[in-house]
Amino acid sequence: MKVDFFRHNITASDRKALDRTLRGLFITTGGEVNRFEERFAQYLKVPYVVGVTSATAGLHLALEALGVGRGDEVITTPMTFIATANAILHAGATPKFVDVEPDTGNIDHRLIEAAITKKTKAILPVHLYGQLCDMRAISKIARKYKLKVVEDAAHAVEARRDGVCVGQFSDAAAFSFYATKNLTSGEGGAISVQTKKLKTILSQSRTHGLTKDAASKYQKKYQHHDMKFCGWKYNMSNIQAALLVPQIKRIEKNLKIRKKVWDIYLAELEGVENLGFPKIVPGARSALHLFTAWVPPRHRDKILWRLEEKGIGVSANFRPIHYMTYYKKNFNLKKGMFPNAEQIGDSVITLPLYPALKERQIKYVCKSLKEILELL
Ligand SMILES: Cc1ncc(COP(=O)(O)O)c(C=O)c1O
Repeated sequence: MKVDFFRHNITASDRKALDRTLRGLFITTGGEVNRFEERFAQYLKVPYVVGVTSATAGLHLALEALGVGRGDEVITTPMTFIATANAILHAGATPKFVDVEPDTGNIDHRLIEAAITKKTKAILPVHLYGQLCDMRAISKIARKYKLKVVEDAAHAVEARRDGVCVGQFSDAAAFSFYATKNLTSGEGGAISVQTKKLKTILSQSRTHGLTKDAASKYQKKYQHHDMKFCGWKYNMSNIQAALLVPQIKRIEKNLKIRKKVWDIYLAELEGVENLGFPKIVPGARSALHLFTAWVPPRHRDKILWRLEEKGIGVSANFRPIHYMTYYKKNFNLKKGMFPNAEQIGDSVITLPLYPALKERQIKYVCKSLKEILELL
């Protein structure tokens, strides 16, 4: 049997929407992007959204727009995809890592205060695998020390916790529509923000800092644009937006389907020797983006390869950032500094999780994993 690691959920009607856009005049940023921004903001229950080309771009632009730059420090987690820390570097600042909670893998907010220095400008929590960090606690610290908060919500479109929605307790949150995300346009991203002022700045900084985009220049008589600050080239296109808009309606339905997949995994795998799972805390509704399990670190890679030999697509989310040569070399980081992130990073395997998975495929993955574990 073959079980792909991921299969997207783009349907025939999504392709029709894309076709309509391709037959129209504007395939770059225009009406379809505006529609996406309105509908995604409505879904998230946030005031404003800005469409960009990736979550990495979103994090970079948000940090910069909030005044984070050269000489500043941003507190974040080592248990994340490299994009989180790279976006801090793109903004010219330095990432300062603190360890994660051993049971969830999310940043341990109790360690944040000790990492704050005169240079700290922002906190960048990551909602790992789709579970919201304790945003009430993090925003309390941020208020106390007058820090900005930017959420890495790449995994977390559907996340809630104790009545808090993603994007609600921060200055900005960045979302990813990368190929394997729950909502996807192949590549793509969005930033949610609380103020019109930030929305305007980000709408300009995503297109070089220009005061007008191509579509708005075209609406009336030709108008010249100005550039009041130097921005980047991160604007979402109508092509990406056309694919995303119809998917917004299916977010909740697809979450329910992934929950069924998740529950089958747990029913089949809970209690199995040599296997553990990250915890979903009471009061949290995870976006259920990645299903991960923990295996004995010394056998982890062998387990991944055996699963692949059985036709099962796998991944390992994540190798902690301080394992990466560049970060080790340039930021004086080494193994041993963040034991909880290391424990998770050394033992984690990621199994397929998406709505199109059939029950027999999920059961095959579980049976294969159990067989592999028994033979260790
Ligand atoms: C936690 C996390 N942050 C950021 C990103 C970057 O997203 P993008 O590829 O849209 O830049 C990813 C991508 O997978 C991610 O997993």
